[in-house]
Amino acid sequence: MSNAVPNGVQSVQRGDTPMEVPVFSARNVSMTFGHGKKICRAVREVSFDIADGAIVSVVGGSGCGKSVLAKIMLGLYVPTAGEFFYRGLPITNQHMHWNEVQSVFQDPFSCFNQFFTIRSQLKDAFGILQNKLSKSEIEDRVDAALRAVNVQPAEIEGKYPFELSGGQMQRMLLARIFALRPKVLVADEPTSMVDACVRANILDYLMKLKQELGMTIVFVTHDIGLAYYVSDQIFIMHEGRIVEAGEPDAVALSPQHPVTVQLIEDVPDIHKDWIKR
Ligand SMILES: Nc1ncnc2c1ncn2[C@@H]1O[C@H](COP(=O)(O)OP(=O)(O)O)[C@@H](O)[C@H]1O
Ligand SMILES: [Mg+2]
Repeated sequence: MSNAVPNGVQSVQRGDTPMEVPVFSARNVSMTFGHGKKICRAVREVSFDIADGAIVSVVGGSGCGKSVLAKIMLGLYVPTAGEFFYRGLPITNQHMHWNEVQSVFQDPFSCFNQFFTIRSQLKDAFGILQNKLSKSEIEDRVDAALRAVNVQPAEIEGKYPFELSGGQMQRMLLARIFALRPKVLVADEPTSMVDACVRANILDYLMKLKQELGMTIVFVTHDIGLAYYVSDQIFIMHEGRIVEAGEPDAVALSPQHPVTVQLIEDVPDIHKDWIKR
């Protein structure tokens, strides 16, 4: 399909992907908006590989480029410089990409239409998949997904998004992911709207998704405490760059970059005990 593959990464066809080809590879990827005096360098020359089945957290303060990087992974933005690959190939077809790579965004209300019932929207979500399922298969998968996030299907029967709380809606987003079973999930601050208790639940669901579906998860957060708790690898972002990357123990217990040290200081006390001392 393409011979433009990252250095050292084998060229392979989809469907015949050996384990060692990363899910995402970035080589000097930059994303710039505007020009001249109004230029905004949202992402600057980032390079990384994300292995199949890994949970990688992208951590940094507000405006450091996390969501822009997440959107590059989702194929919503094409980098203005550098090379970005999904399983060794450039993202050329968004719809094919979304068949495998799905997202959970910050605001669950913006992802659901207020004028349609939740159940009808969970079912409609299957329209994005290229393998069409039968009506009864879709009903069954929606029921199973609701139960996976501890909601009985009857609880949301006939309900509209505005009838649910923020925490319940966030569970509906996760239910959609459970139903669609993507290979890769990009979760951009999925816990930012909810209280600490619901947040812990959502993180447990994410871990369950990884275990049950073998998903690769990219978890975007400003909270290094949460990242420490869930990830195999942490990327620290600052002003568009990845300034530190490594395993959670290395990054959280012996931070090398002052930005990482600051992020650890900013961790709310209730999460501090997650970072082992
Ligand atoms: N579509 C856009 N047009 C112009 N600037 C943008 C756009 N999207 C993001 N930015 C800018 O890029 C920078 C990084 O944004 P973002 O990735 O959303 O940060 P965060 O780390 O908080 O998610 C910010 O300065 C933001 O204003
Ligand atoms: Mg953001």
